[in-house]
Amino acid sequence: MVSRSAFGFIGFVFLSLVWVSHGGITSEFVRKVEKTIDMPLDSDVFRVPHGYNAPQQVHITQGDHEGAGVIVSWVTPSEPGSSVVLYGTAENKRVFHAKGKVTTYRFFNYTSGFIHHCTIRHLKFDTLYFYEVGIGMSPRQFWFRTPPKPGPDVPYTFGLIGDLGQSYDSNTTLSHYEANPKGQAVLFVGDLSYADNYPNHDNARWDTWARFVERSVAYQSWIWTAGNHEIDFAPEIGETKPFKPFTHRYRTPYRASDSTSPLWYSIKRASAYIIVLSSYSAYGKYTPQFKWLEEEFPKVNRSETPWLIVLMHSPWYNSYNYHYMEGETMRVMYEPWFVQNKVDVVFAGHVHAYERSERVSNIAYNIVNGKCSPVSDESAPVYITIGDGGNLEGLATNMSEPQPKYSAYREASFGHAIFDIKNRTHAYYGWHRNQDGAAVVADSMWFYNRYWHSVPESS
Ligand SMILES: [Fe+2]
Repeated sequence: MVSRSAFGFIGFVFLSLVWVSHGGITSEFVRKVEKTIDMPLDSDVFRVPHGYNAPQQVHITQGDHEGAGVIVSWVTPSEPGSSVVLYGTAENKRVFHAKGKVTTYRFFNYTSGFIHHCTIRHLKFDTLYFYEVGIGMSPRQFWFRTPPKPGPDVPYTFGLIGDLGQSYDSNTTLSHYEANPKGQAVLFVGDLSYADNYPNHDNARWDTWARFVERSVAYQSWIWTAGNHEIDFAPEIGETKPFKPFTHRYRTPYRASDSTSPLWYSIKRASAYIIVLSSYSAYGKYTPQFKWLEEEFPKVNRSETPWLIVLMHSPWYNSYNYHYMEGETMRVMYEPWFVQNKVDVVFAGHVHAYERSERVSNIAYNIVNGKCSPVSDESAPVYITIGDGGNLEGLATNMSEPQPKYSAYREASFGHAIFDIKNRTHAYYGWHRNQDGAAVVADSMWFYNRYWHSVPESS
């Protein structure tokens, strides 16, 4: 026989769970209080490869719309050297070659090395390739695996990293991501090097950042989103062309999606269709980005790529007291499209903490009707802020109180996430905080695809 007090206890537990599921969770986890500082220039992670004019800062990203192309980029420090990439499907038989181009730029008193970009096209899907750069001088070898051909039930695992920087915490974040053997490509939501925090935007910190992340991005594509730290607008030192270092160093396959700017574009990768937006380019009505996005949504075929993912830097739903409402004007412009087109998930950065939303929309408001609060909406995306890579600016710890209903989970810790697509209906999402072992998941959720299986989820 169960006593009355036991019933009371069970009732209390049940009520507690109900309260938690409707009220959102603000994690009580508090990390050790240490200042987030950049790794010094002589750190091991920044080391220059041996050999005269050896290629450094090697990185790859998707090079076409379907995933059969790769853009290989690298820097030679002393002279241009060769822009050729040798590649093949066997380690000792790199029998194909592609020729790229070399560029340089100046930024105030800094002159870049020789930046090479080479697009390799018409690769076989789901195939391991070996490649070599620095031909004729001090060659270096790497490898990558192309994604499977786009298809509705192709499993694929993305890593999520944002606002990484080059601090000791950044190194921990990257190491945790690397420790997970499942990650096949990184969706990077902006703010790469934080070089602009140094005097005169010391572009040598763009070089150190690229050497630091080479150990991952030379072997798997990172999909680039531009953040505010990519703008590098500094009229006080005569630098008035926004995004100059970023666009010289990082290429995107924007022309393949009929975009007119490398800052917004789309790709297919396995079972995902990924739209990348620029929070810091014009996006109002009649602008190039608006017109492109308006024509982009009808092109998404959910029978081929069921998972519709959007990347941007500045979040639309953010309950921290940092960058509060900075994403609001873009939300007002584009949120109705996201709901109509059943976007599955939006990943953003900018706020140096972690937050996951409920499925909500705020599109009913028409100035006079007063309906200006987010409401539950099963056609709306989940919004995830993952700007917690670990840069030198430190954590955002100050949250608005009480936690808004739309906020499902929030925590001021550094970390990264994994979006693991199983098939057309299910994807497992997990967020990993840096203070835990690499395999520990601190927040997780089963995603049900909004097009194929649009029923409520629970985390
Ligand atoms: Fe940012």
